[in-house]
Amino acid sequence: MYREDGKQAESKCDIGFIGLGVMGANLTLNLVDHGYRVACFDLDQAKVDGIIEKDVQERGDQAARVEGCSSYTELLSRLTSPRMIMLSVPAGAPVDHVCSHLIDAGVQADDIVVDTGNSLWTDSVEREERYKSKFIFFSTAVSGGEVGARFGPSLMPSGNPYAWTRIEPVLKAIAAKVDADTGLPIESFVPGKPVLEGEPCATYIGPVGAGHYVKMVHNGIEYADMQLICETYQIMRTALSMSPSEIAQIFRRWNDGKLNSYLIEISAEVLEQMDPQTGAPLVDVILDKAGQKGTGLWTAVSALQVGSPAQTITAAVFARSISSLKEERVAASEVLQGPDVKPLSEEEKRNTINQLEHALYCSKICAYAQGFQLMAVASKEHKWELDFGGIARIWRAGCIIRAVFLQSIAKAYENNEELDNLLLDPFFSQQITEYQSDWRQSLAQATLAGIPCPAMMSALSYYDAYRTAVLPANLLQGQRDYFGAHTYQRVDKPAGKKFHLDWSDPARPQIAVKK
Ligand code: 6PG
Repeated sequence: MYREDGKQAESKCDIGFIGLGVMGANLTLNLVDHGYRVACFDLDQAKVDGIIEKDVQERGDQAARVEGCSSYTELLSRLTSPRMIMLSVPAGAPVDHVCSHLIDAGVQADDIVVDTGNSLWTDSVEREERYKSKFIFFSTAVSGGEVGARFGPSLMPSGNPYAWTRIEPVLKAIAAKVDADTGLPIESFVPGKPVLEGEPCATYIGPVGAGHYVKMVHNGIEYADMQLICETYQIMRTALSMSPSEIAQIFRRWNDGKLNSYLIEISAEVLEQMDPQTGAPLVDVILDKAGQKGTGLWTAVSALQVGSPAQTITAAVFARSISSLKEERVAASEVLQGPDVKPLSEEEKRNTINQLEHALYCSKICAYAQGFQLMAVASKEHKWELDFGGIARIWRAGCIIRAVFLQSIAKAYENNEELDNLLLDPFFSQQITEYQSDWRQSLAQATLAGIPCPAMMSALSYYDAYRTAVLPANLLQGQRDYFGAHTYQRVDKPAGKKFHLDWSDPARPQIAVKK
């Protein structure tokens, strides 16, 4: 048996794990792969038995390192002190339920309780305060789904810096690894043979709450990324009459280039999948109603609250909402007319596919720009001092939005820590300059064909608004002042000074309009 921190294994367990759903069980097995002995507990005894069996299957009786517990008290008694206990339970009330059971069971003030769920970041802030006399509450957001949890997730830890010094070796061991030079993941999916080299995708994000905020924005970007891929699929499917497998081939080709990412890769796989029951492409059998657990919505709400434009993320959340109105859409499709569409020649189709690759890429840059801009606003507001280069680096592997492209984002922030917006980075601004015509053409074509592209269009509008020196908000301020005396600032006076015009004054100077 080995442990990466070099310590000898003791008779007691190193870590306690509560909540053995898919994520919890896989994180436990990942810890075990790295030499930690883990005491486990779940309200469902079958899950405890299941993980012990799995550990024995993978490692054999002699080397098994998971111990099952039948109560919170037993779990605490099996751990070396000061204890480290990880939780993987649904966000919200279940986290507090577990915390209060741990208090009843005798958790100590220097024990650390690490929440690994998809918690709302403000809940983490409240929990640190609420439990501070009982134990150290720490949070570690986890991305990567079940495979990531098992073989290397991306981790976004935040909270008490002392707790971090104790948790750091554990989290860095189980995290996904990347080749620092290429930014590419170093992967192994063999139980018991974890990746030991490379840069770990786990870095201290900041005070409690910061890690879950960053994970929330990760998910907002994930929503946008997924929706953009889906819109691109829809254009190929509808305007270019391509089959799912033809589109899968295009995605595979794109995956060899600048769009290389986990989400493009799995989209190709989904499109190639046949339905075992009907033999039809599975995508045609899956009902077009998107679910959501709330993290995209939280990102959109936060963006609205702090006033940081994140329209592509918000559009992606609304795209899921409109998808869920299936019955209404079906009825509306019988009533509401779209445009007449002219079929495209083979050459036009080829051009459109090439343009779409660039449209997706430019839109993706904007979605990430919005996510990073939102984190920058939150960082300033909460004094988190987020390291954006570091965040991009830990998203290069393990997480759902992992992509080659994140290496370029990391570089952008390494070159300029004060970068106001990713769009202003010389590499990204040059990329959009080069490809924007294709982006605009793709959207023009989609519009003429009546294909909805809410995320892609919002991305282009974001780009155009961000690069426009004078927006029509001058007229808007005039309207506000007219009906509500809400005042306006002037271009020729110091910022912040407010002006109001008496709109009811018949003598106010007006441009003569010919009637
Ligand atoms: C991740 C995922 C993970 C989960 C999403 C799904 O990073 O591993 O984002 O957190 O899959 O919460 O979210 P929706 O159900 O809202 O799509």
